[in-house]
Amino acid sequence: MDTKEPHLAELVNVTKLYEGPHGGTLALQQISFAADPGEMVLLLGPSGSGKTTFLTLLAGLQRPTSGEVFLFGKEVTGYTQRELQWMRAVRIGFIFQTFLLLDSLTVLQNVMIVSRFAGTGKKEAKEKAIDYLTRLGVERLSEAYPSRISQGEKQRVAVARALVNGAALIFADEPTGSLASKQGMEIVDFLKESVRNERRCIIMASHDERIIQQADSVLVLRDGALNHLPCK
Ligand SMILES: Nc1ncnc2c1ncn2[C@@H]1O[C@H](COP(=O)(O)OP(=O)(O)OP(=O)(O)O)[C@@H](O)[C@H]1O
Ligand SMILES: [Mg+2]
Repeated sequence: MDTKEPHLAELVNVTKLYEGPHGGTLALQQISFAADPGEMVLLLGPSGSGKTTFLTLLAGLQRPTSGEVFLFGKEVTGYTQRELQWMRAVRIGFIFQTFLLLDSLTVLQNVMIVSRFAGTGKKEAKEKAIDYLTRLGVERLSEAYPSRISQGEKQRVAVARALVNGAALIFADEPTGSLASKQGMEIVDFLKESVRNERRCIIMASHDERIIQQADSVLVLRDGALNHLPCK
């Protein structure tokens, strides 16, 4: 038996065709990729090149037209819906471009809810949430509602929410997209630290080429095809 550690996530020969009324869009063609602990992977490519499709397939949020997708060593179709939900709460973190915070919950509740869903008690969930909000410099906003905070602050809350459960695999879809440059790069530095210190893997789609300096590997998508750039 192979005793090697499985990849955190893997695409094997994946193609994605979106069917539409006027023919289909081939969003990804014959893509293979594996994500391992301790790596920050940057996914570059122009608008429409397939970056979001790549991330959502790798996270098991949608199925490929052909090919296989493995999460933590097992093909996604081998998991029950319940197992997938649990994995998304505990082992996978997401940071979306629009941050997707829940407007009816406070900042603190937005971060706590992930740990609560994973079964952590209220007191511990609160402590963990406050710890991350503090490290990201937004603890003073704990009782505020997302509609009353800035884009940069929302981004920090979204990062806290993605990391709070110790998820090994983090997907970030243009997390710096709507931000002034300095703030965006501070977040990239924070994420990079969590890759180094906690052996997480972060896969980040971005238009921001400054992130190339920070990445361990760089993938370039163009019209659904993938190129690996040599890195450092
Ligand atoms: N649900 C969908 N149905 C049909 N076509 C889609 C769907 N989602 C994406 N596409 C198409 O697939 C291609 C890849 O889209 P995708 O969103 O993955 O690109 P992207 O690189 O993330 O772009 P952006 O930088 O603008 O976010 C595009 O041509 C897009 O129009
Ligand atoms: Mg996208």
